[in-house]
Amino acid sequence: MNKTLKNIKEKFNRKIFSNKLLNLKHRFVTNSETRELIDSGIFISKKKFLIDKIDFNKYLSDTNFEFVSKRFKLNEDDLKKIIVSLNELGILKIIKNYLGKKLVIYNNSILTLGKIKSNDKSMMPHHDKNGRCIKVYIWIDKFSLNSHPLYYLEKSHTHFRRDEDYESSRFGFINKIKFKKYHGGMGDVILFDTNGIHSHFKDTVDPRSVVEINFEPYGFLSRMNNLTFDKFKNRIDFTFLENYL
Ligand SMILES: [Fe+2]
Repeated sequence: MNKTLKNIKEKFNRKIFSNKLLNLKHRFVTNSETRELIDSGIFISKKKFLIDKIDFNKYLSDTNFEFVSKRFKLNEDDLKKIIVSLNELGILKIIKNYLGKKLVIYNNSILTLGKIKSNDKSMMPHHDKNGRCIKVYIWIDKFSLNSHPLYYLEKSHTHFRRDEDYESSRFGFINKIKFKKYHGGMGDVILFDTNGIHSHFKDTVDPRSVVEINFEPYGFLSRMNNLTFDKFKNRIDFTFLENYL
């Protein structure tokens, strides 16, 4: 067997094996909040994030919102406050129950959707090609039916996707009726498994912003581990969650 084929085979097996192991682990979870995330792929916290803790306006003050979407990197001080607060709200516990204890975080930004409509790239139904990964959204705008909701195809996360190419991770048209629509309000915390199908065509023009942080497991069976550290560190600006606690 040549080296490339061997590498592909090993990667394939590790991914499938780690997913099977995770599914097995999930069977024994009794915590009701984690259970909700396991069963539907998405969880909305009943406890709200206190928006006043952070001055989010500083990230958006120079923006005219003439774009589809834009990211504003959170500074380290704000990120630390957010992580500590997510811990106090019990959100990190749910994520650890779901993914495991050793986690990395990345993206760490304000994700703002602007005034421009769109139906491609991240504004179409897709999954994130990351294997098992939890994305946290904290809504920092007031509730509005005129801004873009989070669309999530509940239970679609249970079908594990190992596609590697971008095209196969994008889905053309899936009827919006099949998706659950989540219009967040100020301080709402939403978690979802990005292996599930999410997002849909953006036909709204009212801007809205969320804090977005990605959580992914780190370890021998995960795509990020000691052997792949350098490769991923070059591609993704990740840090270990424990650095902030
Ligand atoms: Fe996505």
